[in-house]
Amino acid sequence: MSSSKQLPRLRALSLLAVFAVAPFAARATHAAPNPDHTKMPWMNKALSADQRADLVLAQLTLDEKIQMVHGQGWGVLRAGAPIPEGSNFGAGFMAGIPRLGIPNIDLADSAVGIRMAAYQGRYATLLPSTLGAASSWNPDAAFLYGSVIGRELRSLGFNMSIGGGVDITREPRNGRNFEYAGEDPILAGTLTGTLEKGLLSEHVMSDIKHYAFNDQETGRTKVNVLLDHKAARESDLLAFEIAISIANPSAVMCSYNLYEGKYACENDYLLNQLLKKDFNFKGWVVSDWGATHSTVPSALTGLDQEMPGDDNYFNQPLKKAVEAGQVPQARLDDMVHRILRSMFAAGVVDEPPVRTVVDPFRGRDDAQHIAEESIVLLKNSASILPLKSSSSQSIAIIGSHADAGVLSGGGSAQVDAPGGNIADPGRPGGSIWGTPVYFPSSPMKNIQAKSPQATVKYNDGSDIAAAAQFAKSSSIAIVFATQPMREDMDAVSLALPGEQNALIEAVAKANPNTIVVLETGGPVSMPWVDRVKGVVEMWYPGIGGAQALANLLFGDVNFSGKLPVTFAKDDQQLPHPVVPGLEGVSVSARNRELKIKPFDLKYTEGAKVGYKWFESTKQQPLFPFGYGLSYTTYAYSNLWVDDAARTAKFTIRNTGKTEGTEIAQVYVALPAAAGESYKRLSAWQRVKLAPGESKEVTFTLHPLSLTVFNTDKNGWQLLPGDYTVTAGPSSSETPLKATLHVNP
Ligand code: BGC
Repeated sequence: MSSSKQLPRLRALSLLAVFAVAPFAARATHAAPNPDHTKMPWMNKALSADQRADLVLAQLTLDEKIQMVHGQGWGVLRAGAPIPEGSNFGAGFMAGIPRLGIPNIDLADSAVGIRMAAYQGRYATLLPSTLGAASSWNPDAAFLYGSVIGRELRSLGFNMSIGGGVDITREPRNGRNFEYAGEDPILAGTLTGTLEKGLLSEHVMSDIKHYAFNDQETGRTKVNVLLDHKAARESDLLAFEIAISIANPSAVMCSYNLYEGKYACENDYLLNQLLKKDFNFKGWVVSDWGATHSTVPSALTGLDQEMPGDDNYFNQPLKKAVEAGQVPQARLDDMVHRILRSMFAAGVVDEPPVRTVVDPFRGRDDAQHIAEESIVLLKNSASILPLKSSSSQSIAIIGSHADAGVLSGGGSAQVDAPGGNIADPGRPGGSIWGTPVYFPSSPMKNIQAKSPQATVKYNDGSDIAAAAQFAKSSSIAIVFATQPMREDMDAVSLALPGEQNALIEAVAKANPNTIVVLETGGPVSMPWVDRVKGVVEMWYPGIGGAQALANLLFGDVNFSGKLPVTFAKDDQQLPHPVVPGLEGVSVSARNRELKIKPFDLKYTEGAKVGYKWFESTKQQPLFPFGYGLSYTTYAYSNLWVDDAARTAKFTIRNTGKTEGTEIAQVYVALPAAAGESYKRLSAWQRVKLAPGESKEVTFTLHPLSLTVFNTDKNGWQLLPGDYTVTAGPSSSETPLKATLHVNP
């Protein structure tokens, strides 16, 4: 066929293609209808986000402005609530201004993957818990984490994520610790900020939450946190400050609780003074769902948008307050400006999401990769691990549905399992609040695949005597133990729930080669730790969790994760041996604020959270912050600090026979004048080393790890004097020591 004859056919084909694609293109959920630059100068990408926002603002009527500062109601979150027109069935929805090309904002809960996908028969990847991912101490993993969520949000047609939890682990029994990033403000802030950057890189708006001091779920709407400003800036607020400075997030979600007698969503100190002034936050403050309690005070103290909104405080009451001059017009304009500039800055106007099929394989691979860096080896006596592929061995897998799947975290962070909850196969559909959801990533099958000739069998552990008998007849017993956690409920204690401790004791007694694999939301106590050979903390490991676990158990991948939280021996070691607010409340009534009256919670431990508390009170934890084993060993030597550059340099050598990645940690203790004797994490790096290899590594000390907060000057202050720099594999093992002389 000649080329001239080909042409019309090609043209016809391309026309066909246009028609075939057109219906789908029209479904791009957030496309600006008419981005004509002459009529819509704010569509000019050469202008800054702030300029573009101001141009739109000048066009908006009062009603349109009011529409943008509140959501359209509970929607899919509450049975019977109307679903706003145009909503994508996420947790929140703000109606856009189509005449100006301003899209809707469709918000999806997405702390560890996208929530409620099952509602529309869609799929979303379950990532390891963010606390798990924080065990990688790896900003690259955090960026990947955020970009997976961003990528899938776009595919599902959402343009805003609500995740980014960075409340530090003050309360190790907090139901939401799995959505956060551990107890250290610098580590948590760095990883969460980087995660948000990954999300923003996909042109999806981000949010950081729950600002601030939402450190426990017990009485979360009634608890009044009391902590002086200095300690607050050096602990909880430091995590937010760092995360916000790294990510420039689109929004910050204010929390349910009170601080210094004021709700977090109407707290001038937290919102106006700190967040918007001192942290220079340019985005908008969105309330947690139902956390708005007033119109004028909230508007004046810094709240910019009420969620889920509808007919509450920021709709008609705010309009009236603006008309009456109780809320200045300029303040309303500031709210809207912040929303609009964040939309332009993230790219949701210029590059709106286009629906496509989520790539489940890519998501699973990414989740597995993160899990492999997140799972922590806590004990490995007599080198019980790595397991060997041997035809003669029999492996008993016991408990926690480990024949079929892995546990996920609940509440508004819950991701729906493909095919439904594998532990509850009779009930199809989405997740049910309060029912632990297991995902189809089978530890048993993956262990069997690594050792095809071995006998690998499962016992559900419900009959302890039978499970022990089963373990006795096997060469190795692996007990899986779970701690289901979720929003709105804390654990009553650090103990594993139910009869799991008794099960582990019985199995360990029956089989000397017992390994415990934990799937927990946060730290748990381990009264049996001396009687088992191996302990692995898998957290909630995500959809690639079982593959990652099998790779690690058999040594195809070396363990590298380290704890981002301290594991106490028991509740008595904690600053609050009973979860505050739970004293005297019956266990059955602890759920959902029931029977809990408003109460003050004084953080007597001040800024001494986690390892700082243990060091200050001279207590030995069960496993310290920063701890984690691997299949090799490392030696640390030759610490050298540079006073002027404020860096530390030392050599790490792999002294074993296996390649590994060591998370080397640097801590600083401030001079006596600071009045804070405990050490602080200052820097860390993941260092990959072949057997026998040495590397000299330079660490830049985090500037805020060296400073104290001076409340009189309202600023960070670097004190002159001698700083003790220590380095090593964990917070409790720092073989290297040097002095940094500071003369500011
Ligand atoms: C949670 C938030 C969540 C919101 C919307 C609230 O109960 O605290 O984290 O984003 O609900 O689902």
